[in-house]
Amino acid sequence: MTADEAGLSIDPVVIPLSLDGPDATDFLTMVDVRNAVLRERTGDDDLAYSAVELLPGWQNDEDEEGHVWIARQDGIPIARFVVEFPMEAGSDVVWFAFDVLAAGSRPDVWNAGFDLLERTARAHGRHVLQSEPVHRPGQGEVLKARSGFGEIPIDDQARALLDRGFALEQVDRISALDLQGDRSLIERGFADALAASAGAYTLVEWTFPTPDEFVDGYAAMMARMSTDAPSADLDWDAETWDAERIRRYEREAIEGERFTNIVAARHVDSGELVAFTELHVGDGRTGVTEQGATLVLAEHRGHRLGMLVKAANLLTWLDLAPESPRVSTFNAEENRHMLAVNEALGFEPVGYAGGWKKVLED
Ligand SMILES: CC(C)(COP(=O)(O)OP(=O)(O)OC[C@H]1O[C@@H](n2cnc3c(N)ncnc32)[C@H](O)[C@@H]1OP(=O)(O)O)[C@@H](O)C(=O)NCCC(=O)NCCS
Repeated sequence: MTADEAGLSIDPVVIPLSLDGPDATDFLTMVDVRNAVLRERTGDDDLAYSAVELLPGWQNDEDEEGHVWIARQDGIPIARFVVEFPMEAGSDVVWFAFDVLAAGSRPDVWNAGFDLLERTARAHGRHVLQSEPVHRPGQGEVLKARSGFGEIPIDDQARALLDRGFALEQVDRISALDLQGDRSLIERGFADALAASAGAYTLVEWTFPTPDEFVDGYAAMMARMSTDAPSADLDWDAETWDAERIRRYEREAIEGERFTNIVAARHVDSGELVAFTELHVGDGRTGVTEQGATLVLAEHRGHRLGMLVKAANLLTWLDLAPESPRVSTFNAEENRHMLAVNEALGFEPVGYAGGWKKVLED
């Protein structure tokens, strides 16, 4: 660890093989910084992940190559800088996550992170720098998304991103659904959607590992998530998903001791899986539930299948994870179709995330 004259040091974190040995110390510190910053930004631990949950994702470089550094002031951790390269062929994209504690949120710290990001991106021949941070709620000046939908308060990280030339392309609404309260909206949503889909579809459900008969259909729907969800002017690579990628994806969840339930709709005439939704939870199923992907294939939209699979999964989930307090979800503010389903189920806004982008000149 070498610090500059002001006592600031930035060091890469080596990804350990397990969390037991001495080489896992920096990884554990990095996870603590991540969760502490999210707690500062949201006021709760709803978006926290344990080191056990995060390690398998860091060990998989096949779908995304990740790099992470810890910044310390006088030896005390103040930030982590994550830089990730999607491994899709021809990708020009870099996703980054800078988690800077309020106590360390100074221009020299942010700029040290941005210098590192731009150097690493150039070394990989990538130009499109993108990040989706959670913003602190606040009073005062706001910034509207270039998409025309949604705004965020201009907090310390928004200021740092703007000063470095990033634009706010998109805003995601973060919403929560209380799982311990009245379930009548979920039941009504399920009954209405079942009537609307009128016997043309049947429901199937599974936990990881995915039964062989569903793997190809699941992969085909996962691929569409990267192209069909609204992305404003952010660049999302069209992702290639096959059976092997599904197996890597679910291995990360299983090794990370997370539990997942998937409900999908099968088109009776073709036998094809055409809609699905995922729910995930860690912590022995007692933590906050994470809403994963939800999608209806384009040619099957307009039959309330989004509501059908979501309501069905929530009703099952109340038995599978009865202690989980709530579900947390992120949706683009312009994603009216998904927001309409979530609002009808009782999700309420709790915060906002920004979709930031800057394109490097060569
Ligand atoms: C959100 C989504 C699952 C809703 O699909 P759905 O359950 O078929 O929607 P509904 O049946 O409630 O549709 C209501 C109306 O909106 C239309 N609609 C739904 N999704 C639409 C879309 N993405 N684009 C245009 N119109 C859409 C339907 O055709 C229907 O129109 P109609 O009333 O004239 O028949 C679907 O739009 C989708 O898969 N989007 C892409 C993936 C996505 O954004 N996932 C969420 C990421 S956070």
